[in-house]
Amino acid sequence: MQRRLIGNTKEEVSLLGFGCMRLPTLPNGEIDEAEAIAMIRYAVDHGVNYLDTAYGYHGGKSEGLVGKAIKDGYREKVNIATKLPVWLVKQPEDCSRLFNEQLERLGVETVDFYLLHALNRGSWQQALENEALEFLEQMQAEGRIRYVGFSFHDDLPVFREIVDAYPWDFCQIQFNYMDECHQAGLAGLKYAASKGLGVVIMEPLRGGRLVQNLPPEVEELFRNAPIQRTPAEWALRWVADHPEVSVILSGMNKRSDVEENLRVLSEAEPHSLSKEELNIVAQARDIYNQRIQIACTDCRYCMPCPQGVAIPRLFRLYNEASMYSTFAEDKPQFRQMVKDGRGPDQCVACGNCESACPQNLEIIELLQMVDRAFGS
Ligand SMILES: NC(=O)c1ccc[n+]([C@@H]2O[C@H](COP(=O)([O-])OP(=O)(O)OC[C@H]3O[C@@H](n4cnc5c(N)ncnc54)[C@H](OP(=O)(O)O)[C@@H]3O)[C@@H](O)[C@H]2O)c1
Ligand code: SF4
Ligand code: SF4
Repeated sequence: MQRRLIGNTKEEVSLLGFGCMRLPTLPNGEIDEAEAIAMIRYAVDHGVNYLDTAYGYHGGKSEGLVGKAIKDGYREKVNIATKLPVWLVKQPEDCSRLFNEQLERLGVETVDFYLLHALNRGSWQQALENEALEFLEQMQAEGRIRYVGFSFHDDLPVFREIVDAYPWDFCQIQFNYMDECHQAGLAGLKYAASKGLGVVIMEPLRGGRLVQNLPPEVEELFRNAPIQRTPAEWALRWVADHPEVSVILSGMNKRSDVEENLRVLSEAEPHSLSKEELNIVAQARDIYNQRIQIACTDCRYCMPCPQGVAIPRLFRLYNEASMYSTFAEDKPQFRQMVKDGRGPDQCVACGNCESACPQNLEIIELLQMVDRAFGS
C-alpha cells in the first residue's frame, strides 16, 4: 500500500483509508460485525493504517465496531479518526462529554485524528460559540488527541475562512472527478495543501454514484479505452493522481471492493495518469454534465420564495437524479422537502422568482416537472 505524508505532520498514512460509514449490514440493518471486522482487519493486514468513523455513523454503532476491530493487537497498527458531532454541541461542556463517550465506545485513550464533523457556515459558527477550538487545543495539549482537523460541506469561501482560522493539522473534503469545482473542490485541495494541511478525501466515488447505473455512453467510453479499468478504478486513480491528497477514504461493504481498492491505491502514484487517460475521465465528466436538465446556477436570486419553495435545492436534486439515474434513491429526500413545506406543491405561481432569475428559467413549469419526476 502506498503511503503519503499527511500535511506538515511527520505521519505517514496509507493512501487507502477505511471509511466506516458504509459497513456491511445484516438484513435487519444492523452491522454484520463478523464480516465488518474481518474486512477491516484484512485491509490493515494489507497496509491500511487509517480508519475513519464518526459519532453518528450506523446509528451510533460504527465507533463501537471499530473498537472491536482494533482489539487483538490491531490498535497499534492503525490511526483512528473520528469526529465531533458539532450539531449536538449546545454548550462548551458538550465537547468533552461527547469526546469521552467516543473514547469509551472505541476503547482507546487517545484519538489520532479528531475532526469537527461536517462543517458549513452555520455549524462553524456553532463550533466557535461553544468553544470547540479551545477544547481541541486543550485535548491536544493533554495528548488525548494527536492531530486536529475538520470535515467540510459548503463552498470555497467558507472553506478558506475555516482553513485560515486555526492551525489545523488536516482537513477532509468531498473530492472526485465530478466535484472538481464543487464544495472545496480542486481549488480548496490546493489551498489547504499550500497551508500545510494534510487532505483526506471522502466520497471519491461520489458515494457510489460513479460506479452504479452508469450512463450507456460512459460504459461505452470505458469499454473502448485503451486500458481496461473498472469505473471505480478510473475514479480512484483520478483522485490519487493529485499529489496534495494524503488519504482516500472508501466506504467498502464488499470484500471484492476492498481487494480492488487495495490494489489500485498501491499502484496509483501522483501524476501517473497520461494525458490520454485524463482525457477519458474528462469525457466521462462531460457525459454526466450533459445530462443536467435544468440550467440553474444556484445563484439564489430567486430566493426566498414567499411560499417557502426551496427552488435551487429542488433543481439540484432533480439534476443529480438525472445525471446518476437515481430518482428512486433520491425520492425520500424529495418527500422530506415536501413534508417540510419546501416542495413544489407550495408554489402559487406568483411569478416573483421568474422575474428575478438571470437564467430566465421558467421556474413554475420546471417545478411541475420536478414534482412529476419524483412521482408526487
Ligand atoms: N465527514 C463527512 O461529512 C463524511 C461524509 C461522507 C463520507 N465520509 C467518510 O468518507 C468515507 C468515504 O465516503 P463514501 O463511503 O461515500 O465513499 P465512496 O467510495 O465514494 O462510496 C462508497 C460506495 O462505493 C462503492 N464502492 C467502493 N469501492 C468500490 C469498488 N471498488 N467497486 C465498486 N463499488 C465500490 C461501495 O458500494 P458497494 O460496496 O455497495 O458496491 C460504497 O457504497 C465514508 O465511509 C465516511 O467514513 C465522511
Ligand atoms: S412562482 Fe412559485 S416558486 Fe416562484 S416565488 Fe412564486 S410561489 Fe415561489
Ligand atoms: S435565480 Fe434561477 S439560476 Fe438562480 S438559483 Fe434561482 S432558479 Fe437557479
